[in-house]
Amino acid sequence: MQQVEVAVIGTGWCGGIRAETLSRSSIVDKLHICEIRPDRLAEVKKLTNAATATSDYRDIVRNDRIRVVYISTTPESNHYPIARDCLKAGKHVLLEKPIALELFEADELIEIARRGNLKFTIGYSQRFNTKLAYARKKITDGTLGKPVSVMVSRHLSRGLGKKIASRGRLSPAAMESTHDLDFVFWLLEPARPTRVYSQGAYGYMQAVNGSYDIMWSTVTMDNGVLVSIGGGWNLPPSYPNYFRCRPCRASGSTTSTPDRWDPRPCTSSSASCGTSRRWCRRKARAG
Ligand SMILES: NC(=O)c1ccc[n+]([C@@H]2O[C@H](COP(=O)([O-])OP(=O)(O)OC[C@H]3O[C@@H](n4cnc5c(N)ncnc54)[C@H](O)[C@@H]3O)[C@@H](O)[C@H]2O)c1
Repeated sequence: MQQVEVAVIGTGWCGGIRAETLSRSSIVDKLHICEIRPDRLAEVKKLTNAATATSDYRDIVRNDRIRVVYISTTPESNHYPIARDCLKAGKHVLLEKPIALELFEADELIEIARRGNLKFTIGYSQRFNTKLAYARKKITDGTLGKPVSVMVSRHLSRGLGKKIASRGRLSPAAMESTHDLDFVFWLLEPARPTRVYSQGAYGYMQAVNGSYDIMWSTVTMDNGVLVSIGGGWNLPPSYPNYFRCRPCRASGSTTSTPDRWDPRPCTSSSASCGTSRRWCRRKARAG
């Protein structure tokens, strides 16, 4: 087995988890970390027994022994310059979403990776959610028949929304729906998106960063499947974050929630009622 030297740039919440996991991986020869907060740098260095720890990401870029870099920094405006410098230095990159804040930046990163024959991926962690992977398996193997449409609805409380939105010019589509767009396109492969329409509505978050509270995106796939993805971050502060996915197929529909995936056809009288089976049962018990 070939081992590699790996670096994590930005070891806050997400990068800290990445670093701890990498420190236990048998394919990681040496782990290097980079963090601009000295206290967090020292904490993660101790936790992971990192080979080197620096506050300047250019030390990672200059180190030719490092072949793979995980970029988990905030604010999101620094994703593009750090990823660009790492890719230009010939390193394989896993970059947390969003890939960039501007389309031309994303295009440039993909082009540098292509030219350098480098692996460049975005940390779409939903693909590793076993319930969602199971949904893909059941669509791919034909158990669920031919999908006609997929609806995903993902909403955060405004506490978390405000924290994320305060980091800069970000939107619920870029920060939340991006996970679901990736997941649904993965679910529907080899179909490709051909048309996208997105609409937002202002509310609570406009005063925070000028962003919409909620955005619904409608995507038409080249095989005619219709995808609707809603993302928002204005639920009341104490409200639990909420995610629901409903693939609708030619002969019925199914519902997936993060804590429950039930591939059986929904028995609701309305296939588009939007409620999960578990919720329906709870409602039924409550009379
Ligand atoms: N895949 C997922 O499900 C998922 C979940 C959460 C967050 N994210 C993404 O991961 C990224 C990080 O999120 P988080 O919640 O861990 O944020 P965070 O603020 O907790 O951590 C980011 C860290 O980056 C550090 N940093 C900033 N600039 C740096 C630089 N130039 N060099 C080194 N370190 C630098 C900060 O000091 C901070 O500790 C975000 O872009 C977010 O969108 C992805």
